[in-house]
Amino acid sequence: MAASVVRIAPSLLAADMGRLKEELATIEEGGADWLHLDVMDGVFVPNITFGAKVIETCRTLTTLPLDVHLMVVEPERHLEVFARAGANVLAIHVEAAPHLHRQLMRIKELGCAAGAVVNPATPVESVREVAAELDLLLVMSVNPGFGGQSFIPSSVDKIRRARAVLDAAGSRASLEVDGGITRETIAACWHAGADTFVAGNAVFSAKDPAAEIAALRALCAERA
Ligand code: DX5
Ligand code: ZN
Repeated sequence: MAASVVRIAPSLLAADMGRLKEELATIEEGGADWLHLDVMDGVFVPNITFGAKVIETCRTLTTLPLDVHLMVVEPERHLEVFARAGANVLAIHVEAAPHLHRQLMRIKELGCAAGAVVNPATPVESVREVAAELDLLLVMSVNPGFGGQSFIPSSVDKIRRARAVLDAAGSRASLEVDGGITRETIAACWHAGADTFVAGNAVFSAKDPAAEIAALRALCAERA
């Protein structure tokens, strides 16, 4: 079943943090749907980014839903603090959550939408048993850790299979794709069944981020 909404979620990782307020205003006024926030702990992934304090600050600066992508080990230790900081979506990696069902339930209990994330090497089948509980399934189209990487082409077929897993479970979860999303890669992901697109460098490195958001969205709508 094809997706019917298109959500563009610029990733803060690619923003100029010295101009945080202006960057957030630009994307909000420019039509972004969500703000994607990449939390990295230097253990689950080789990079360290930011924690709950930055999310709390973003909460005061934008009304966009905050889509928090936790690239951390033992995510269960941090769910409450991120929920309190203002996260709307909390997504945890299946590779870091052996008790995924329990953690998804905990995220919902905290009042957030519950997301599961799969790395490029992790089969989508790993979420099959919890598909009905998901509010969001995030398919990584790069190995997480850094912005500005190239899209892994086999992700398109994986998105197709992820859409099938969600449909088979009767799930209305959003299907998000993250990593290397550009004008060149977004349409194929949309056609494969993704509806939510993280875009870091594509949006924040663009001369006109608002125009870039519109262009990315149009590439989906155009051929829908
Ligand atoms: C990668 C992060 C992504 C990243 C995307 O580990 O999860 O969200 O910020 O950046 P781009 O769109 O530049 O590939
Ligand atoms: Zn991300």
